[in-house]
Amino acid sequence: MKTADAVRLWHDEHARFARLLDFLDTQMMVFHEGGHPNYELMRDVVHYLQHYADRYHHPREDVAFELMLQREPALAPQIKRLMHEHRVINTVSAKLYKYLEDILEDAFIARETVEAVAATYLVYYRSHIASEESDILPQAAQLMTEADWALVAAAIPSTPDPLFGKEVGARYRELHKQVALEMRAGAENA
Ligand SMILES: [Fe+2]
Ligand SMILES: [Fe+2]
Repeated sequence: MKTADAVRLWHDEHARFARLLDFLDTQMMVFHEGGHPNYELMRDVVHYLQHYADRYHHPREDVAFELMLQREPALAPQIKRLMHEHRVINTVSAKLYKYLEDILEDAFIARETVEAVAATYLVYYRSHIASEESDILPQAAQLMTEADWALVAAAIPSTPDPLFGKEVGARYRELHKQVALEMRAGAENA
């Protein structure tokens, strides 16, 4: 794959993840105000990010980061931090998923506990994406070659995106509908 195309796809995935985080944020605001957020869809957002972002997007980045480091050792501090953040995001999302499951099973769980974990997740994830967009993608466009992208693809074979791809996975149908509606509303208001 050409570097320009790979970087564009990389950026597009970030935009989709950001949209899901916005959705989660909106639901958390309803929660904060004592209303009834859609816990199922919130759980599906986290499930998708665990099963797609944590398993494919982040591992692919880890491979790309290593290749970039070989070319530009000065990137080490940023890259080490981002790789560490992949692990933190993974841990926090498991916690948030568990809390959302607990809520759906009517287990008692303090509101503040859920809010704290969700807020950490949102702040952390958004800043992670923002750093990659500002510090890494422009560098990748300069440093990475077509052969590098072949190495990334060989290390982490891609899988169809089960939420935004052509075939929507059964578990994500409702979320897909919701996100698609929001995207359309956003486009109409733009
Ligand atoms: Fe990342
Ligand atoms: Fe990323």
